[in-house]
Amino acid sequence: MKIWLCAHLSLLFLIQTITTAFSQKLSLKQFPEKQMLQAGVWKDTDGNFINAHGGGILHHQGVYYWFGEIKKGKTWLLPDQKMECYRVPASGISCYSSKDLKNWKFEKIALSATVSDTESDLDTSKVIERPKVIYNQKTKQFVMWMHVDYKDYSYAHAGVAVSDNPAGPYRYLGSVKPNGQDSRDMTIFKDDNGSAYLIHASEDNNTMYINQLSNDYCSVTNQYIRISEGKRREAPAMFKFGKKYYLLTSACTGWSPNAASYAVSDSPLGDWKPMGNPCIGPFSETTFSSQGTFVLPINAKNGKFLFIADRWNKTDLENSRYLWLPMEVKGDIINITWSAKVPD
Ligand code: GAL
Repeated sequence: MKIWLCAHLSLLFLIQTITTAFSQKLSLKQFPEKQMLQAGVWKDTDGNFINAHGGGILHHQGVYYWFGEIKKGKTWLLPDQKMECYRVPASGISCYSSKDLKNWKFEKIALSATVSDTESDLDTSKVIERPKVIYNQKTKQFVMWMHVDYKDYSYAHAGVAVSDNPAGPYRYLGSVKPNGQDSRDMTIFKDDNGSAYLIHASEDNNTMYINQLSNDYCSVTNQYIRISEGKRREAPAMFKFGKKYYLLTSACTGWSPNAASYAVSDSPLGDWKPMGNPCIGPFSETTFSSQGTFVLPINAKNGKFLFIADRWNKTDLENSRYLWLPMEVKGDIINITWSAKVPD
């Protein structure tokens, strides 16, 4: 009996050791080198490194315009912060264009940063993150929203800029605390009927807000809702499939990757149902070592989208990478799977 018990306990111990080792392997924050292919250096048509982080894509008259943060210069650590706060000079917003989502031509700096103008939201000493652009059919203007902040993230404003041309240059109009609330990680979403929304992390990143924008998309209306209360979600990306709306978010761990999650609703200002992690398989618990920024419809009728993410290099932010993964939607279910190559 004693021998049997000993053997049984040893077997249990062995199983537990193997399981722990396996789950530790899967929870490693970094992908194995051979799986890094997709997240290698992406170059533009001039052979330069594409510098467009936390970005979004506008599809206009057959051309894709990719807007993103220009991260340039030495990364430094802001001392005495609650969270690990690595910073790099804010260098404005870049714009690249493409007809095939593969060959990207550098268009221009769509929104320039200012130097030694500490009063300006766009000063290089500040934070300019997560730019997104939509087109306003009525005003014939391209409208860009972005997160602007102080280097310690205590300003928490949403900035807005406009242009007559998709690639810019954009004219900065100023920034707001939407409906009086803090606004950090954000995105914008334009619905088929022309209504548009600003979605932003607020209340010290505890709660997500969805605000309807004005008709010209340049300000927020007082129509808004609070969702994911107390859930600490950020990096929002909203899209529509059929009659439903989907909101992908990350958890709140700074530049370090974590598990994505999503919610579904029948309308942008409706009742959002939490659904869980859309990523499948090994490394899904770190969104394949990345953080989402945008969802691009590819063949939206058939539920085919691109999940666009950043693989941050927190101690050398200029050398962060991009990760674009195939994403499939069926009913309420989103599946994002690992792919070593950029999806066709
Ligand atoms: C992330 C956020 C990034 C950036 C970073 C700073 O959580 O998604 O856009 O703000 O924090 O630590």
